[in-house]
Amino acid sequence: MYVVPGSASKSIASHLVREISADIADVEIRRFIDGECYVRVKSDLKGEDVIIVQNTYPDENIIETILLKSAVKDMEPKSITLVIPYLGYARQDRKFQDGEAVSAKALARVLSIDVDLVITVDPHKNYIVDFFETKASFCSAVPEIAKYLLPKDIDVVLAPDKGAVERAEEAAKILGCESDFLEKKRISDEIVEMKPKEIEVKKKTVAIIDDIISTGGTMAKAVEEIRKQGAKDVYVACTHGLFIGNAIDKINRAGATEIISTDTIENAYSKVKVAPQIAKTLKENFPN
Ligand code: R5P
Repeated sequence: MYVVPGSASKSIASHLVREISADIADVEIRRFIDGECYVRVKSDLKGEDVIIVQNTYPDENIIETILLKSAVKDMEPKSITLVIPYLGYARQDRKFQDGEAVSAKALARVLSIDVDLVITVDPHKNYIVDFFETKASFCSAVPEIAKYLLPKDIDVVLAPDKGAVERAEEAAKILGCESDFLEKKRISDEIVEMKPKEIEVKKKTVAIIDDIISTGGTMAKAVEEIRKQGAKDVYVACTHGLFIGNAIDKINRAGATEIISTDTIENAYSKVKVAPQIAKTLKENFPN
């Protein structure tokens, strides 16, 4: 069994190799001067079970994933599994207005080609895995995030909006505490409002958990609201830390005690590893 590391997911690939006792494939990935991607798989993968690990964010990594799949397929492997730690475009999972592309579906269709199994991590909405035209499954990073939060003695886990409530409940169950959600209204890509809602957080240690932190607008507002209501400490955690622009600054200024993300997108806040959950899902769904 071989793991093929994409350039955006090298660290997860190396952790996964250890979790599942596979070999890491030798690959050359670089960009031509005009920006086009070059991919060469140097290991012989004929007859092997092959697991490609690569994010589909930002856009250039979609092309890289397509080229990796093609190079691997040409080697006649026994099976191809595509692990996508962060599946980009997942938030455009339906038509919000007539004429829009359902981007998550369009991407899933392309990524399914030549692949026996797709595994992704916290795909915004669970039903997104049904967009793939091959066997697809997902795992949750919440158990690993909860493990990290365990020594912090969290009293309440909050979701910054209703859509994230299941993740908050899952974490609260592991942490043995209460959960609740805030009421978010999105005004624009960067601006959100939190509707006033009384939550029992006075003098309490709170964790706010979301799937994605992008511009940080949602989390900053949530932290601000919870601080206003008298929380003692506010831990902010997400699976996918995109942290666009001054997101970190915004969340810190709002009064976060600590910012935590997983390593699906590698950054300075990747304090939680998702490879153990990916390995578990792989073992449960493997194609042969
Ligand atoms: C939205 O439904 C997601 O779960 C996140 O809450 C959202 O993507 C966060 O975006 P931002 O950090 O830009 O507010």
